[in-house]
Amino acid sequence: MEKLTRKEHDFSAKLRQKSVIENLRQYIAWQREARRSPAHPPLPALGPVSINLDLTTACNFKCPHCVDSGIINTGEDISLDVIRDSVDTLAAKGLLSVILIGGGEPTVHRDFEEIVRVVKAKGLQVGIATNGSRLERVASVAGILTEGDWLRLSLDAAREETFEKSHKPPAKVTLEKILSDAQAVKKLNSNISLGYSFVIVWDGIRYGNRELTPNLDDIPEAVVKAREYGFDYVSYKPCLLRLEGSGKESLFDPPDPGREEKVIQAIGKRLDQAEKLCAPPVKVLRSVNLQAMMEGNLHELKRQPVVCHSQFFRSVLAPAGIFHCPALRGVSAGRIGDKEGYRSAARFLETQASLERSVQSFDASRECSVVVCFYHHVNWWIEKFIQSSTPVTLIPEVEDNNFFL
Ligand SMILES: C[S@@+](CC[C@H](N)C(=O)[O-])C[C@H]1O[C@@H](n2cnc3c(N)ncnc32)[C@H](O)[C@@H]1O
Repeated sequence: MEKLTRKEHDFSAKLRQKSVIENLRQYIAWQREARRSPAHPPLPALGPVSINLDLTTACNFKCPHCVDSGIINTGEDISLDVIRDSVDTLAAKGLLSVILIGGGEPTVHRDFEEIVRVVKAKGLQVGIATNGSRLERVASVAGILTEGDWLRLSLDAAREETFEKSHKPPAKVTLEKILSDAQAVKKLNSNISLGYSFVIVWDGIRYGNRELTPNLDDIPEAVVKAREYGFDYVSYKPCLLRLEGSGKESLFDPPDPGREEKVIQAIGKRLDQAEKLCAPPVKVLRSVNLQAMMEGNLHELKRQPVVCHSQFFRSVLAPAGIFHCPALRGVSAGRIGDKEGYRSAARFLETQASLERSVQSFDASRECSVVVCFYHHVNWWIEKFIQSSTPVTLIPEVEDNNFFL
């Protein structure tokens, strides 16, 4: 049986794990039926297997590169009651994992610890993406996290000066303090997978009228820090931009092939140095879009099938509503419900009907032609399977590592 090891970013393999493959089979069978007959049954009443849960739009950093800068600090959040009810509803519909992220900074939500308890009490996997400024709140629930749960710090720097310019944190929050706090959390519970996230900012990127601080020279040093402070991996990804007007995420837009090549060479050199400095147990990971960028395939990831199939498997529950894709957070074309849309079984069915309309009418080939899509490969894999005549029972299962979705 195919193994998932070293397939951190392979969603089509992840959807073929024992715990999810039945959802995949039901979805493909439904798609085939829907394409055959206008009188088809409704979309299966299975919920997302994974959600991004944006607890709040509040953030205590002022990162000049923040891809979500247009939707943060709006004063909105999701209350503990709504989260408890939504997790209850979704767990009964097959939810397996919850990523606490943003938008804003999850650890500034007043009920952060209780929310982690609510998620873990349902036996779900949890991932926490944080700026690291309030790790004492993570430490107080570290004991209930289990194998496969992760804590990922958005650091994007290995030197204090770069860190300060890239995040504009509150006084007294330093990179050194965050790294020590992270190490302490890992010591409390070694089951937690500890990640050092690094958004690569190259020379000349502008956000509005601001020029961002480049951090290429910090790329190799991040591995040194990761080793020193007990991290499990460093995850590199390219800096995304939100396009003015549509608000969609993109990269290298408008395309500028001359500049692209130089940037790729400069990043490639630092990543090679990072790989050389790396030693087990620390791993160097490259995001799907970084890998595509380095291989010159970036534009392939902007070529989507008409139907975005991933929306059936993942969604974003945010203060501004439910969105069918993280890249369309806060974008009206991606909104399938309000923030209480998973609050009860009845509300779930309404949201599912809205999702069905989105699956049928959202044209990803057009709407996402600027988005460098993380789900490009899985969407094409599913599309080709739907169009084939292979019975869904023959979809090959991968070894179930309980791999985080
Ligand atoms: C916006 S942050 C919010 C969650 C939390 N406050 C944090 O710091 O991780 C969510 C993720 O978006 C990433 N991010 C922010 N701006 C980005 C950009 N321009 N390009 C790529 N990723 C970005 C961050 O590194 C982080 O992993």
